[in-house]
Amino acid sequence: MQKLFQALVLAAGKSSRFKTERTKLSYTMCGQEMIVAVLKALHECALPITVIVGYQKEIVQEIITKKGEYPINFVEQQEQKGTGHAVLASRPTWHADNIVILNGDMPLVDAAIIDALIKQHLEHNADISLATAHCPDIHHHYGRIIEEQGRIAIVEARDFNGDIHHSYPINAGIYVIKRSILETLLPQVAPQQPSGEIYLTEVIRLASMQQKKIITHDVAYEVVHGVNTLQELASVEQKKRWQLLEQFMKDGVRFIMPETIYLEYDIAIGSGTVIEPGACLMNGTRIGKNCTIGAYSYIRATHIAANVVILPHSVLYDATIQTGAQVGPFAHLRNQATIGQESVIGNFVEVAKSTVGKKTKAKHLSYLGNATIGNEVNIGAGTITCNYNGFIKQQTVIEDRASIGAVNTLIAPVTIGHDAMTAAHSCITATVPAQALAIARSRQVTKEHGAANYRARQEALHAVHFKAATIADIPCEE
Ligand code: UD1
Ligand code: CA
Repeated sequence: MQKLFQALVLAAGKSSRFKTERTKLSYTMCGQEMIVAVLKALHECALPITVIVGYQKEIVQEIITKKGEYPINFVEQQEQKGTGHAVLASRPTWHADNIVILNGDMPLVDAAIIDALIKQHLEHNADISLATAHCPDIHHHYGRIIEEQGRIAIVEARDFNGDIHHSYPINAGIYVIKRSILETLLPQVAPQQPSGEIYLTEVIRLASMQQKKIITHDVAYEVVHGVNTLQELASVEQKKRWQLLEQFMKDGVRFIMPETIYLEYDIAIGSGTVIEPGACLMNGTRIGKNCTIGAYSYIRATHIAANVVILPHSVLYDATIQTGAQVGPFAHLRNQATIGQESVIGNFVEVAKSTVGKKTKAKHLSYLGNATIGNEVNIGAGTITCNYNGFIKQQTVIEDRASIGAVNTLIAPVTIGHDAMTAAHSCITATVPAQALAIARSRQVTKEHGAANYRARQEALHAVHFKAATIADIPCEE
């Protein structure tokens, strides 16, 4: 079916200015790959999309198909010979009357800009419409839009030898071009010398020479900021981060020192919640109302209900924390750890693949792995579930109101029944029935005067007075 518009995204470039030997389009900005940001904007405009891939095409394609949110057509630019050459590589896919072309490296772009450009293109029945902006940095690397005697041309920064103080609009890298124009003019673009690159921007010069109708549409520079270097990536990410933070603040989230927070796109935070300095809130994080997230906590793919307190330096990854619980400082929850209502997980406690019930406490120095722990259980300091026998992981079950003494080793599979107790420093290898008390440690032997006798024996043996000896008295071996 003949369509009015289709979109092309240029994503084949070598990213040489990143200097990392990895395509820049695979880098994330606030937890979202750069290329995905551009595709999302185009998708919102309901345009069929072709992505032109080349350099590390497998990586770019995998990122896009993994998202799998919308059908994307791929074509390959086999050699990277410039933006015009990339568009030419997609020629067999051209079917619509007008082709919307976007650089893949502008992750702040939004659908509103693209829609507005398309609207203007239609209203003016233009041959070419392009977005322009004003870059505050006079040493920028964008193409400058230069209009002279009714002719318009784009001069790349590297070819520009005019006055950099003159404020020319820049080429944003978003174009709407009639297919007929591309079909006739793009093949006529001469390669640059000595690079051999074919610039898409030369189509504008050729079209202007033939008095084609070219319109420009000025947009905010912030939105079309291109990313060619890691510094530019950091700078656009900072802008995006601030936008996200501002939205949360408007919705009643208090950030203490917001400039220190790292956060990603896919998070939610309820009103009344306080986020302390240095927190990292990564994709998949959901935080309820009136929580406190302690300083320097790292939280990813974790659901936190209302009124939860996370104390500083906690690492939470793939966990669920229910209302009123307290976690940290220095706690580590991971791999489907669930902490029940009003439970307390304290410092240096790691919980992995385990469920902890309501009002249960594990306050110090423990490892709880592959465990199902009931309500109102107390786990003594230094308790370890020995869940791995070198081959498989096995379960530990601790039922309601059981009390585990300090420094217990619970060798899985094992069950501690409800209301049972284990003595401090027990090594529990067998079921402890409900209400029972298990003591699993060697008995203490106390020898009257044993210490004095021991010292005397050693003194006789080594001819040294332990008490009186100083370093100088201890004979050196020759
Ligand atoms: C380009 C424009 C410049 C504009 C700027 C806006 C040209 C010649 N210059 O410059 O006028 O101001 O964007 O940000 O178009 N790509 C390919 N194949 C290639 C080369 C590049 O697919 O052979 C892709 C890249 O992956 C990237 C996009 O095209 O997504 C732009 O390429 P880039 O090298 O970043 O162009 P700029 O120098 O920024
Ligand atoms: Ca660029």
